[in-house]
Amino acid sequence: MTDIAQLQAEALGAIGAAASLDTVEAERVRLLGKQGQVTALLKTLGGMTPEQRQSEGPRINGLREAVSAAIAARKAALEGAALEARLAAERVDLSLPAPDTPRGSVHPVSQVMDELAEIFADMGFAVATGPEIEDDWHNFTALNIPETHPARAMHDTFYFPDPGSESAAGSKLLRTHTSPVQIRTMQSQQPPIRIIAPGRVYRSDSDATHTPMFHQIEGLVIDRGIHLGHLKWTLETFLKAFFERDDIVLRLRPSYFPFTEPSAEVDVGFTWTNGRRILGGSEGWMELLGSGMVHPRVIRACGLDPDEYSGFAFGVGVDRLAMLKYGMDDLRAFFDGDLRWLRHYGFAALDVPTLSGGVGA
Ligand code: DAH
Repeated sequence: MTDIAQLQAEALGAIGAAASLDTVEAERVRLLGKQGQVTALLKTLGGMTPEQRQSEGPRINGLREAVSAAIAARKAALEGAALEARLAAERVDLSLPAPDTPRGSVHPVSQVMDELAEIFADMGFAVATGPEIEDDWHNFTALNIPETHPARAMHDTFYFPDPGSESAAGSKLLRTHTSPVQIRTMQSQQPPIRIIAPGRVYRSDSDATHTPMFHQIEGLVIDRGIHLGHLKWTLETFLKAFFERDDIVLRLRPSYFPFTEPSAEVDVGFTWTNGRRILGGSEGWMELLGSGMVHPRVIRACGLDPDEYSGFAFGVGVDRLAMLKYGMDDLRAFFDGDLRWLRHYGFAALDVPTLSGGVGA
């Protein structure tokens, strides 16, 4: 019967053209639902003679199967397309940098600290740390700076209010130097000790070459038989590697620090080139760091025997090292957070210092 063939052609056409799942469902109800056109045809089978049923049954059932299959196929296709569209909409492309996003860079102070850690690691030094909020004993007393010592006044210390206490001994302060890490290290480790301690320090002072917070790096070696020669070799090796020049010349000047005996201030030589000071050679001298042999009293305060152990220590401003190496002239710019400055002097995040690549490369 052509009306079955016609109905099938019309039904499959409508299902194929359905643009949404709702339309497919509407077609299903129209054709296969209780009142549906195909259902109505199926119902006519009951009233047929066995002969009619034999010939019509397969045609009507064939129609129903074709319609059901078309509906299932269209439904699957629309669902697949909906999923594709949703995945496309929710897709996040992590593989490309966003074009106008500001990019971070490594601050010169961090870069220099990494360079120092790399250089000293090569000489067998570990990195040690200590708290920035220190107590008076670690920052001063154990370093042979008793309460009445004039050196305390020189440090322009930030103290925390401590109304309950008569003496300064237990009071808290912002550490004025990294030297208290010497004390903490000697108390917690047995010799041989070889450490550097980089970190923030605080003093109430502010001008073009001083900021209330700045960075130091402390060095400490404690073992049997350590002498001034070890100190000089260590500093020379360190500074040649840091400034990446073999013609670095050091001058040790007698000086005074309460925690070292003898004490030496270390100057580094420079030459004049086109009106600029370039490190290397010895036409002039720049003061660079403080150092000395650890005072026996400091060794004893940490519970070690100064007759058995000796050692050297040094302390140097990290910001100053960065200024000298990378040619910056105002310390305050280090802490202004000015992106233009950082873009000019900053380092790429993946530019990790290595000795093989040249630490400052
Ligand atoms: N702590 C001193 C300062 O802040 C620097 C210093 C000098 C550290 C001599 C040392 C040293 O370890 O031996 O000015």
